[in-house]
Amino acid sequence: MDESLETVLVEFDDDRGVGTLTMNRPDALNALNGQLRDDIVAGLEALEEETEDREGVALRAVVLEGAGEKAFCAGADIGGFSDESAGDSSARSHYDVIRNFPAPVIAKIDGYCLGGGLETALACDFRLASEGSTFGFPEVNLGILPGAGGVQYVSKLAGPAVAKELAMTGEHISAERAGEEGIVNHVYADDEFDDEVDAFVTDLAGQAPLAIQAIKKSADMAVHSGLEEGLAYDRTLFEGLLQTEDHAEGAAAFAEDREPEFEGK
Ligand code: CAA
Repeated sequence: MDESLETVLVEFDDDRGVGTLTMNRPDALNALNGQLRDDIVAGLEALEEETEDREGVALRAVVLEGAGEKAFCAGADIGGFSDESAGDSSARSHYDVIRNFPAPVIAKIDGYCLGGGLETALACDFRLASEGSTFGFPEVNLGILPGAGGVQYVSKLAGPAVAKELAMTGEHISAERAGEEGIVNHVYADDEFDDEVDAFVTDLAGQAPLAIQAIKKSADMAVHSGLEEGLAYDRTLFEGLLQTEDHAEGAAAFAEDREPEFEGK
């Protein structure tokens, strides 16, 4: 599969089960206009459609990246700034679709990651950044706040003081600082970035996919549930996974001292 939407390139690597969405408005630093938001959703749907009739779980991970040399995404498109672009409140916003997508979504960040672009990355399950990337919430310069939960996310990941600093000053921070604050998972040297991300994604895609999906749900639940409720939820997920062929395969592979082959069944 190799599909082009107006502003997003969609690829699917059959061997690894990895989809890639490339936000493709490099001349505007991949700023989010309505079309790009819609195309991210359409791209994720296209990946699901491509893989839905296959056995087990064929779509293991999705990488979201930005085209061009300069940016992952420089936020909402200021030229077309409107109610719609100042924080998407529709039921199927690309933020919600990424967050609720069954497979993990990895933000591959190389360059500016600002405003709604940072919020898009925060809706993903992982943020992997090149060392030259920069992060920030410039919304305050426009007299608004990050409208898609940026302050909430960063408060949870790095604490409210860091969230306030980013959102109240509008200053950019380095990838190194974003890594130290827990806003990104890993920061890689620029010349090793592609290979490191590839290795991370390949490992993730090789794990038992039903377990990965359950872990995504569990971690997301932990953010808004009490511990008792979360423990009960995990117990249900665990009991379901014990019944899967992947669990039997993992146990057999361990006993036979070989690599497991998971199918998502
Ligand atoms: N919207 C529309 N176009 C943008 C853009 C944006 N957010 N960011 C950059 N561009 C465009 C520029 O207008 C420029 O276009 P032209 O070549 O046609 O003039 C092109 O991308 C390259 O940008 P610069 O020349 O400005 O590049 P630079 O390297 O000098 O600066 C930058 C890069 C610091 C990211 C600067 O472009 C900038 O500050 N951009 C605005 C970032 C911003 O404020 N984002 C937040 C928007 S609000 C938001 O995101 C809220 C939300 O979703 C809820």
